[in-house]
Amino acid sequence: MREVFRRLSPGAPYFPEGLVSIQSGPDSMIRHVWQTAAVCLAKEAAHPLKILEIGSWAGHSTLTWAEAVAKFERDGTVLCVDPWGRYLADADVAAGGAYQAMEAATDLDLIYGLFLHNIGFADKRVRVDHIRGRFNDVAPYLADGQFDIVYIDGSHYYPDVVHDIREARRLVRDGGLICGDDLEHQLHDVDAAFVLASLAKDYVRDTQGRGMHPGVTQAVAEAFGRVADYSGFWIVRREGGAFHEVGLHQAQVFIPSHLRDADKHAVYAWMKQSGLFG
Ligand SMILES: C[S@@+](CC[C@H](N)C(=O)[O-])C[C@H]1O[C@@H](n2cnc3c(N)ncnc32)[C@H](O)[C@@H]1O
Repeated sequence: MREVFRRLSPGAPYFPEGLVSIQSGPDSMIRHVWQTAAVCLAKEAAHPLKILEIGSWAGHSTLTWAEAVAKFERDGTVLCVDPWGRYLADADVAAGGAYQAMEAATDLDLIYGLFLHNIGFADKRVRVDHIRGRFNDVAPYLADGQFDIVYIDGSHYYPDVVHDIREARRLVRDGGLICGDDLEHQLHDVDAAFVLASLAKDYVRDTQGRGMHPGVTQAVAEAFGRVADYSGFWIVRREGGAFHEVGLHQAQVFIPSHLRDADKHAVYAWMKQSGLFG
């Protein structure tokens, strides 16, 4: 399969729309910039940076981590854990659209081949390892306090996010960062009863039409309360036994090179208009 992608996209990573290989819309591409900010903040570590990515899909966020580690002149590793197999609830898949395309991509093992193709373009100073399995099965083999950054973007169903956050707290070093994707709204901003009633779903819209991943909203609130969130990218820092908000605005950032040109332009325009970046 990797050979097929090599022929389809020789010399470059490949993110075809038909495989939902880019997992968020153009308005969410700014989250990649926040990933680079997190690496900038974590680089104070005295050792090569170690990042754990839970949920990699086609490697779009993986390439951002790898480029950020390389750019901030550090060597390091990114360990990706993903089953690259079915995980969506039947009711979500029955709803069709992107879910059906994702299930087909995993059933045909296309997405794993695409991930392998794409990580082949990570900067060579950064080692990208992966373990194919559910994080629930892999986590027990990982030692405490070893990661500088744990990024949570696996299954967004509530019990899985609860699990992944619990393990992330154990796996991140003191001073390290836990972050994650798809916190479109925090619990204090929305109808908590609606979120509770929606936990069986991956993604829902409330009566005001606001889209959210209820499992992420609920689990993050239970674990950390209110967190710093940047366009849906949330982040906390471990300090001893506690977890605190992290300000990313002072960090250096860049727009990752593998983003599509249209997304790069949109991100750049957003950055300029926000006035947050020098
Ligand atoms: C939202 S996608 C990840 C997108 C990726 N981080 C990106 O931004 O390009 C969710 C991923 O989580 C994976 N996943 C589902 N259940 C998982 C589990 N229990 N442990 C680890 N990964 C899981 C899926 O296979 C899928 O690749």
